[in-house]
Amino acid sequence: MGSNQVVSLLTNIARAALGLGAAATALNSSLYTVDGGQRTVIFDCVRGILNKTVGEGTHFLVPWLQKPFIFDIRTKPNTFSSISGTKDLQMVNLTLRVLSCPEVARLSEIVQTLGLKYDEKVIPSIGNEVLKVVVAQFNVDQLLTGHPQVLALVRNGLTERAKNFNIVLDDVAILND
Ligand SMILES: *[C@@H]1O[C@H](CO)[C@@H](O)[C@H](O)[C@H]1NC(C)=O
Ligand SMILES: *[C@@H]1O[C@H](CO)[C@@H](O)[C@H](O)[C@H]1NC(C)=O
Ligand SMILES: *[C@@H]1O[C@H](CO)[C@@H](O)[C@H](O)[C@H]1NC(C)=O
Repeated sequence: MGSNQVVSLLTNIARAALGLGAAATALNSSLYTVDGGQRTVIFDCVRGILNKTVGEGTHFLVPWLQKPFIFDIRTKPNTFSSISGTKDLQMVNLTLRVLSCPEVARLSEIVQTLGLKYDEKVIPSIGNEVLKVVVAQFNVDQLLTGHPQVLALVRNGLTERAKNFNIVLDDVAILND
């Protein structure tokens, strides 16, 4: 082989590699992977958020027209504090720890109304509302000695409110300092 032929062979190899690279990139941008503990909702430029949930595995989508929103569906904690007025007009600062996960069948609704950070947007805010209502029914002594009804009322109130946002509560705890 003359040196010209070698150069031309190398050029062809380089071209082929570039072509493969472009094909790989196009293929890559049409694939997405959903890991364990995740579910995906697809946004489509034409049809909007598709009303279905994609489970674990590697899946195809139409590049540039569709975009995956990948949700963590495992139970996650949110901890926040809230100052509320008691029945005997004292202020108490309570810290709540809430374990929650999304209602998987309604992920497309969650994406549309709240986005991927749905829990951070909703839980502290409904938690504050519920705490204010519950704390106002007790005296400061009852709250500080951990009246069992307080937790039950907070738990029930919060579970009800969270349902409206398609969030499932696994546990609610009042943390003591
Ligand atoms: C595919 O894209 C991902 C990012 O979306 C990147 O991390 C990965 O390296 C790409 N793989 C290939 C073969 O290009
Ligand atoms: C989404 O699909 C579920 C059943 O798969 C149905 O109950 C619900 O009404 C649908 N929502 C919309 C907005 O189409
Ligand atoms: C309420 O308590 C939490 C946790 O102890 C603390 O981080 C927060 O600063 C307190 N808030 C106020 C206004 O004192």
